[in-house]
Amino acid sequence: MELAILISGRGSNLGAILGAVREKRLDARVRVVVSNRPSAGGLDLAREAGVATAVLEHGAYPGREAYDAALVALLRERGVDTVALAGFDRLVTGVFLRAFPGRVLNVHPALLPAFKGLHAQRQALDYGARIAGVTVHFVDEQMDHGPIIAQAAVPVLDDDTEQSLSDRLLAEEHRIYPLALQRLARGELRVVGRRVIGGLP
Ligand code: GAR
Repeated sequence: MELAILISGRGSNLGAILGAVREKRLDARVRVVVSNRPSAGGLDLAREAGVATAVLEHGAYPGREAYDAALVALLRERGVDTVALAGFDRLVTGVFLRAFPGRVLNVHPALLPAFKGLHAQRQALDYGARIAGVTVHFVDEQMDHGPIIAQAAVPVLDDDTEQSLSDRLLAEEHRIYPLALQRLARGELRVVGRRVIGGLP
């Protein structure tokens, strides 16, 4: 699997994926790590791991589709066939999804379809949820939406803060994202309607 990882921030999920590749738990080559923000901390992580990086700033393009066309051109040039969004804070358009059909994944810190969007952990706390969790899913044109490949639940504790809950959720993101990608790499996932056959757990 020829993987690109798209980030906007610190890149801890990127780190988990790079670790899984290094430890041969994930049969993939990371061709490039792309950020839409030059300040993304994850770029340093990638460089330290000897992975190629690129910055494509969305502000330099007239709209989402123009930006996505540039992203597609860059990824094609690097021989990418699969894309993992890992804290990438842009919605991708059909231009992007049609270039990599069924090969774009995202991780979200909630049990979708609950708590989409920003600050999902705070949304879960504010709502009073007793169970929170994380989701890895195929990406479609809606935000935090698309067939679900993997989910993991964590309890919400009485004394949880947004930080403590986020930390517990992040550990689950780091665990299930590489597992989900490995299922895809091994050709074990099949989408039937809205359901993914071969997902986990
Ligand atoms: C992660 O918690 C990820 O699930 C979330 O952004 C964070 C990125 O952290 N993504 C979303 O909320 C998508 N809607 P990271 O840069 O350390 O991987």
